[in-house]
Amino acid sequence: MTKTWLITGTSSGFGKQLAQIVAKADDTNLVATARKMNDLDYLNEFDDKKILKQILDVTGSKKIEEVVKNTKKKFGGIDVLVNNAGLGYFSTIEESDMKQVQYMFDVNVFGLANMTNAVLPTMRAQRSG
Ligand SMILES: NC(=O)c1ccc[n+]([C@@H]2O[C@H](COP(=O)([O-])OP(=O)(O)OC[C@H]3O[C@@H](n4cnc5c(N)ncnc54)[C@H](OP(=O)(O)O)[C@@H]3O)[C@@H](O)[C@H]2O)c1
Repeated sequence: MTKTWLITGTSSGFGKQLAQIVAKADDTNLVATARKMNDLDYLNEFDDKKILKQILDVTGSKKIEEVVKNTKKKFGGIDVLVNNAGLGYFSTIEESDMKQVQYMFDVNVFGLANMTNAVLPTMRAQRSG
């Protein structure tokens, strides 16, 4: 059975690598998200019937809901959520810029929580995911 994967932060790094693997597989649909649409151009070589490209900053909960809605509209459900979008921040405590520390939590913690909260009702309704 075809499985639908939703992966955040697929512009580079692990997210991009995984998106390419999922896009190549026969039995998967891919929802690839990035903050800039042209960062997803590398997916143009794949069959667009099984790919959905979406702009998403995981700090925006309205946009998260929209991505989930668009995914369900195109593929009917979501089987795998990969909360890959994230960033690192390295500093001593004394030299930390608290705005940047806060932003790291907005992305890595609350972004992940908001994504998961938005997707779980679909997985619960499917009784799988
Ligand atoms: N590499 C490591 O050694 C390592 C170790 C531990 C954990 N991790 C975690 O693994 C994940 C992938 O790491 P990576 O090394 O592949 O890093 P990466 O190449 O920097 O990729 C991070 C991805 O997250 C996206 N992103 C950042 N902030 C975002 C936001 N507000 N909304 C949506 N997307 C956002 C980036 O998009 P943009 O291109 O738009 O910035 C990029 O696509 C990250 O969560 C990272 O924290 C990595």
